[in-house]
Amino acid sequence: MTNTAEGPEQGAEVKINTDVPQSARIWNYWLGGTDNYEVDRVAGDEYVALYPGIVEIAREGRYFMDRAIRHLALERGIRQFMDCGTGLPTVDNTHEMAQRAAPGARVVYVDNDPLVLAHARALMTGTPAGGTAYIGADLHDPKSIMDGASEVLDLSQPVGLMLIAVMGHIVDPDEALGVVRGLMEPLASGSYLVLHDSTDANEAFNAAQRAYDATGAIPFRLRSPEFIRGYFDDLEIEEPGIVTGGAWRPEVDSIDVEDLPTLCGVARKP
Ligand SMILES: C[S@@+](CC[C@H](N)C(=O)[O-])C[C@H]1O[C@@H](n2cnc3c(N)ncnc32)[C@H](O)[C@@H]1O
Repeated sequence: MTNTAEGPEQGAEVKINTDVPQSARIWNYWLGGTDNYEVDRVAGDEYVALYPGIVEIAREGRYFMDRAIRHLALERGIRQFMDCGTGLPTVDNTHEMAQRAAPGARVVYVDNDPLVLAHARALMTGTPAGGTAYIGADLHDPKSIMDGASEVLDLSQPVGLMLIAVMGHIVDPDEALGVVRGLMEPLASGSYLVLHDSTDANEAFNAAQRAYDATGAIPFRLRSPEFIRGYFDDLEIEEPGIVTGGAWRPEVDSIDVEDLPTLCGVARKP
C-alpha cells in the first residue's frame, strides 16, 4: 500500500510505502509524534515490548544534538549545520535549535525518505529565506550529498555535520566509515562531526533490533563501542570524549540514564 503526500515540486505527489515500518516514522512514534502509520506503531510497540529503553534512546539523541548545536554555535562560532538523516522530529527541529542559538545560522537537511522530504518542505515555508535547505539524497552516495551542500553552504567556512541515529542504516561497516569520511572530507578545517549511535552492548536491545530488521524495514546495525569510536579517528575530540548521550555535557533537564547502550561525541576537523 502507498499513501501520498505533497511532494517537493508544487502539486507533485510522493509515494510513501506503508507496507513496512520506516525508521523516521517509527522514531517519530517513539518521540510522541503523529507522523507515522499503523505499520510503524505496531512495529514500534513490538520493539518496546522487547526493549523499552529505545524510547529514551530516541529522546536522548535529540537532547544530545540540541546541546551539541548550542556548544558549536555559542562556544565554537559555527554558523552552518548539516543534519543527515533528519527524521521527523516532534518538538524542536534542527534549524530551530541552531537559529535559536545563532539567528543567522544556515541549516541543510539531508534524508532519502519521501515523508521526511514533504515534512521538511512544509517546515521551510515558515523559516527565514535562505536559512534552511533540504537535500533529498542517499547517504550511500556521500559525494552527491556534498555536491548538493556546496550549492547552499559556503564550504570554505566550517560546518557542523550531524549524524544522529542514522549511521547504523549503512549496514556494511567499511562503507559506514567511508561515508563519514566522504562527508567530512570536503569540509573546511575547523568543521565538526556530531555523531550519536547505538551500541550492541545490551542483549535485549540486540534482540529487538533483530526482530525489527526481520520486518522488511531498512535494517539498522547496532555496533561495538570500538567501532563507533572509529568514526572519530583523526579528529580532535571535544571534552568529555565519546560517551553515552546523557553524559555529554549534561544539563539539569538531561536524561539521567548513563547506562543506555549509546555513544556520542563532538570532534573537530584539524
Ligand atoms: C532513526 S531516524 C533518526 C532521525 C533523527 N536523526 C533523530 O535523531 O531524530 C534515521 C533517519 O535516517 C534516514 N535515513 C536512513 N537511511 C538513509 C540513507 N541511506 N540516506 C539518507 N537518510 C537515511 C531515515 O529516513 C530517518 O529519517
